[in-house]
Amino acid sequence: MRNVKLGELSVSALGLGCMSMSQAYGPPDAQESERTLHRALDIGVTFLDTANAYGVGHNEELIGRVLSSRRDEFVLATKFGIVKHPDGKRGIDGRPEFVAERCEESLRRLNTDVIDLYYLHRLDPNVPIEETVGAMGRLVEAGKVRHLGLSEISSKTLRKAHAVHPITAVQSEYSLWTRDPESHVLPTCRELGIGFVPFSPLGRAMLTGAITNDDSLSKDDLRANMPRFMGENFTRNYAVVQKFLKFAERKGASGAQISLAWLLAQGDGIAPIPGTKHVNFLEEDMAGVDVELNDKDLKFLDELFAIDNIVGHRYPAALQQSIDSD
Ligand SMILES: NC(=O)c1ccc[n+]([C@@H]2O[C@H](COP(=O)([O-])OP(=O)(O)OC[C@H]3O[C@@H](n4cnc5c(N)ncnc54)[C@H](OP(=O)(O)O)[C@@H]3O)[C@@H](O)[C@H]2O)c1
Repeated sequence: MRNVKLGELSVSALGLGCMSMSQAYGPPDAQESERTLHRALDIGVTFLDTANAYGVGHNEELIGRVLSSRRDEFVLATKFGIVKHPDGKRGIDGRPEFVAERCEESLRRLNTDVIDLYYLHRLDPNVPIEETVGAMGRLVEAGKVRHLGLSEISSKTLRKAHAVHPITAVQSEYSLWTRDPESHVLPTCRELGIGFVPFSPLGRAMLTGAITNDDSLSKDDLRANMPRFMGENFTRNYAVVQKFLKFAERKGASGAQISLAWLLAQGDGIAPIPGTKHVNFLEEDMAGVDVELNDKDLKFLDELFAIDNIVGHRYPAALQQSIDSD
């Protein structure tokens, strides 16, 4: 697998998102997840993405347990800032006095002495970004963390943060059906020499064609409450996806592969992190790095996924509120 640069950090052009090994899309499968983690490294996927929030520590522990003997083979990215309160409610905590503690907990679970890329998962609306990033910068000085990142951040916040400590990467949702970063954040990353890591690059599986019916999602599946996956919205979005899958077939590739090739074609400094807990999906997805799209293909895809062809917010209202958007 070729590498790309996120700022000064070199990572495999496609990384592996580990979230679904612990939560979100169907029941976890420990054995298959372990096989997937090893297989990723074996085929040259050397950029792994996790967060302390995924499975409330479970995901970091999994990586720490399974890959500690191979720690020097991959770039490890994790995040802090999303918390689960004792009553089960979700909160955001970017208070500077707790950043070092969160980092120590992650290091312990990950079974490592350094995190390569440490992200703030969401902006804490009650804490100036300068203060949170100031505390993160002190982790770099202490050698606990190598690079800093921010997730779902506006371009304005990014500029403020970057003035306090160099930011290596922004991680936000970006895919054929989610184009929000194109207006402000992506141009700002390019201007400042900051890398971009698209999360949910497969549209949470929608772009693979694996979800054919909104009724098929179980109640505890995160997507069951996402407006794009519900009722009439799903039907309209699925009609676009069906045309997309026909295009993929004509190109001799899968929907997942075209989705990833399209992201890689958006410019330098972009490293998508498709998520899976299955070896067969991993192998299929990572072959997307070799799929080439010409100008005609890119034009076709832009027109097919024109902004008003996709309907419904990406998050339910309560979660959408926690996004720091431009
Ligand atoms: N910063 C943030 O706020 C944030 C938010 C969300 C995600 N993320 C990160 O981004 C990563 C990727 O995003 P994501 O997992 O939300 O969405 P995604 O990568 O767009 O899609 C993942 C889903 O697609 C399925 N899948 C993968 N390859 C497939 C294939 N070839 N055919 C059929 N289905 C396939 C997976 O199934 P299985 O899981 O069953 O294998 C999973 O359900 C996460 O793992 C996480 O690390 C970050």
